[in-house]
Amino acid sequence: MPRLSTLSLAAALASPIIADSHYFNSGFFSGSTIVGVEFDDTTNALTLKQNISTKASSGSKWIALDQQKKNLYVGTTGAFQSYAITGNGSLEYSSEVALSSACSNANFITAASTSPYTVFGTAYGTGCPTEAIMVDADGVLHSNTANFTYSNSSGVHGTDLSRDNAFLYSADDMGNAVWVHSLDATTGAAEELQYLAAPSGANPRHLAVHPNGLWVYVIYEEANQLAVYKRDNETGLLTDINSTYLLLPESFTNSTSYWSDEVKFSIPSSSTTNTTSPAYLITGTRSHSTNATGFVSGFILDPSTGAISSQSFLLPTTASGGSANAVAPAPFDERYFAITDSAASTIEMWRIDENGLGAESVARLGLGNGPANVVWVS
Ligand SMILES: *[C@@H]1O[C@H](CO)[C@@H](O)[C@H](O)[C@H]1NC(C)=O
Ligand SMILES: *[C@@H]1O[C@H](CO)[C@@H](O)[C@H](O)[C@H]1NC(C)=O
Ligand SMILES: *[C@@H]1O[C@H](CO)[C@@H](O)[C@H](O)[C@H]1NC(C)=O
Ligand SMILES: *[C@@H]1O[C@H](CO)[C@@H](O)[C@H](O)[C@H]1NC(C)=O
Ligand SMILES: *[C@@H]1O[C@H](CO)[C@@H](O)[C@H](O)[C@H]1NC(C)=O
Ligand SMILES: *[C@@H]1O[C@H](CO)[C@@H](O)[C@H](O)[C@H]1NC(C)=O
Ligand SMILES: *[C@@H]1O[C@H](CO)[C@@H](O)[C@H](O)[C@H]1NC(C)=O
Ligand SMILES: *[C@@H]1O[C@H](CO)[C@@H](O)[C@H](O)[C@H]1NC(C)=O
Ligand SMILES: *[C@@H]1O[C@H](CO)[C@@H](O)[C@H](O)[C@H]1NC(C)=O
Repeated sequence: MPRLSTLSLAAALASPIIADSHYFNSGFFSGSTIVGVEFDDTTNALTLKQNISTKASSGSKWIALDQQKKNLYVGTTGAFQSYAITGNGSLEYSSEVALSSACSNANFITAASTSPYTVFGTAYGTGCPTEAIMVDADGVLHSNTANFTYSNSSGVHGTDLSRDNAFLYSADDMGNAVWVHSLDATTGAAEELQYLAAPSGANPRHLAVHPNGLWVYVIYEEANQLAVYKRDNETGLLTDINSTYLLLPESFTNSTSYWSDEVKFSIPSSSTTNTTSPAYLITGTRSHSTNATGFVSGFILDPSTGAISSQSFLLPTTASGGSANAVAPAPFDERYFAITDSAASTIEMWRIDENGLGAESVARLGLGNGPANVVWVS
């Protein structure tokens, strides 16, 4: 049995209720398994705890949690599925909402944080809508009650909600645009408010609405850029202020060999910080070829305005990222984020430096299959 050092013993006695172990689920691009993984932030150990069999037989391409962290929603070919998270961190199948054959490629899920906790599921395909799915009192997916529609040349890859859940923002990768819809809190009815064509060759993939309501940060997949859109907090409308940050080193002339994918805010730990003021924005970029690494970039946000103060790091990831390099900021400490690599079949934990100016991989877990994205249960 390992000896407890006097230092960690003292720390344990001084703060007996601090949990050092955290738990997340990861989905996969193929197969029916979803894993449960533990991360210990004192030892930086990543441990595979559970291989969970699901009914998502064609992979769990995108997973999301509800606000209560009692349900896991899974996008799999043909359906959005709902699983209850059990006390031991396993998953129990509850229900599914089937998709039409024309729009069966379930690809992204955003869950509202306020009642009625509507879930927004998007199939990636030409002309496919984002489906508003009502949940029951336990948060279980019930039925598709409204569609947020785009144009017949659209293919929306990612969505996000304003913090009050009154507006839905959609990144239209195939249609090279960003869309704004409003939604009626009681009826769930959708209204299109704004279509913004993106610059030629941009291809918006994912986006993130700042919790203070003043900004939407958009990933341009093909241009490998982060774009800044200003948001009117009353009307929800956006203005493209033509401000972009490159997510590859300036010297690279082979931008077409990369496809940027993810943008997420760090998560202020609610006990100590201003929850509407995340410290960082973190992005992921994949290499099309496994012979070159992808990239991860960090941005320091102004604590009072939420604007970008600086692009503080741009670092190669350990490998290409495959189809993933999806970053998932941790809820227990703003400095940590997980990142998935579907080609190397790994999940890594990264930690941002104290001054925010750098980051490094602190743990790596090898898996038998290519992970898609991670959600933090604790
Ligand atoms: C999970 O499955 C992998 C094989 O895919 C196996 O190596 C590993 O031991 C399993 N882990 C647990 C905790 O069941
Ligand atoms: C977890 O709990 C569920 C019931 O909530 C039970 O069916 C399952 O067998 C348990 N799994 C493990 C690995 O203990
Ligand atoms: C939403 O669109 C899908 C097609 O993708 C269709 O099957 C479904 O009936 C629509 N739902 C509503 C409420 O109109
Ligand atoms: C797409 O929509 C336009 C009008 O908005 C229509 O003219 C065109 O025929 C549609 N194309 C297809 C393939 O449905
Ligand atoms: C933006 O609007 C929301 C509610 O609509 C409000 O809670 C929030 O304080 C507003 N933000 C700012 C910066 O005024
Ligand atoms: C952004 O650039 C476009 C065209 O290059 C221009 O029409 C638009 O006014 C610019 N927007 C702002 C906010 O500067
Ligand atoms: C990586 O492979 C691609 C083709 O898949 C090739 O175009 C590129 O030159 C290679 N890069 C390096 C650094 O070997
Ligand atoms: C892109 O170019 C850079 C700089 O020449 C090189 O290091 C990198 O391996 C290339 N990437 C790919 C995917 O070929
Ligand atoms: C939290 O940050 C927002 C800006 O993002 C600011 O408007 C607000 O005053 C801050 N609240 C506190 C309690 O510091």
